[in-house]
Amino acid sequence: MTILAVQNVSCSFGGLMAVDAVSFDVAEGEIFGLIGPNGAGKTTLFNIMTGLTPPSGGQIVFEGEDIARMAPHQIAARGVARTFQNIRLFGKLDALENVLIARHLHTRTNVFAGMVGLPGARRAEREARDKAMSILDRVGLGQRVHATAASLPYGDQRRLEIARALALEPRLLLLDEPAAGMNPNEKHALSDFIRQVHQDLNLTVLLIEHHVPLVMGLCDRIAVLNFGELIALGAPEAVQNDRLVIEAYLGEEK
Ligand SMILES: Nc1ncnc2c1ncn2[C@@H]1O[C@H](COP(=O)(O)OP(=O)(O)O)[C@@H](O)[C@H]1O
Ligand SMILES: [Mg+2]
Repeated sequence: MTILAVQNVSCSFGGLMAVDAVSFDVAEGEIFGLIGPNGAGKTTLFNIMTGLTPPSGGQIVFEGEDIARMAPHQIAARGVARTFQNIRLFGKLDALENVLIARHLHTRTNVFAGMVGLPGARRAEREARDKAMSILDRVGLGQRVHATAASLPYGDQRRLEIARALALEPRLLLLDEPAAGMNPNEKHALSDFIRQVHQDLNLTVLLIEHHVPLVMGLCDRIAVLNFGELIALGAPEAVQNDRLVIEAYLGEEK
């Protein structure tokens, strides 16, 4: 079953077609890779899917509903969560607080009710805290919950970003270059971690990655963008050997 249908989506910045009439479907439960050289339009497509950038044309159908021009919080509430290519954490807040802030949007707890000690609000607060702790445990940060985000090593900050997205209890998780800046060991661990989370939480994952090897072993299918256009779509081996894909990546090296 299709969970996400990208239908003829375009986005232009001035004269530049950052995304050019792109269409593909993501099946429920898939780990789907979105790859392509720098500037191909991958992040722009995520921005459209999450309501940060309005498309100039096309639809994004998530679970049967067009979300393409909704506000970010409306899309998040429907079960789409993301991480950012450039880490966006509250550096001075600790890991637990970073996750709680994300959950706050989801649980709609009233901060004031919590302060004056209304029992319902207190219970909700405690539940939110327990949930946040269990998510942090899941991403391997159970021992670092009181470390400020800024003090965490880079790989842990990436995990915290994922924890924050998971706090929204998404059905579709969008990861924008989660392995960027990691060494090969960290990349390997991250790949295992994504597979585990995908399995345990019954998630559909859409993963942007610049380098091909990480997605090869992880993704069920891969879509390739180049200069805003979809140039290939299919199983990892087929995409890896596709002439247009090879040329696109060679072109980047020049
Ligand atoms: N807000 C923006 N205004 C103008 N141009 C943009 C904006 N965002 C992205 N672009 C341009 O759109 C193209 C696609 O960028 P992006 O989606 O970030 O690519 P990728 O994530 O594949 O590296 C690039 O040429 C980039 O410079
Ligand atoms: Mg990008």
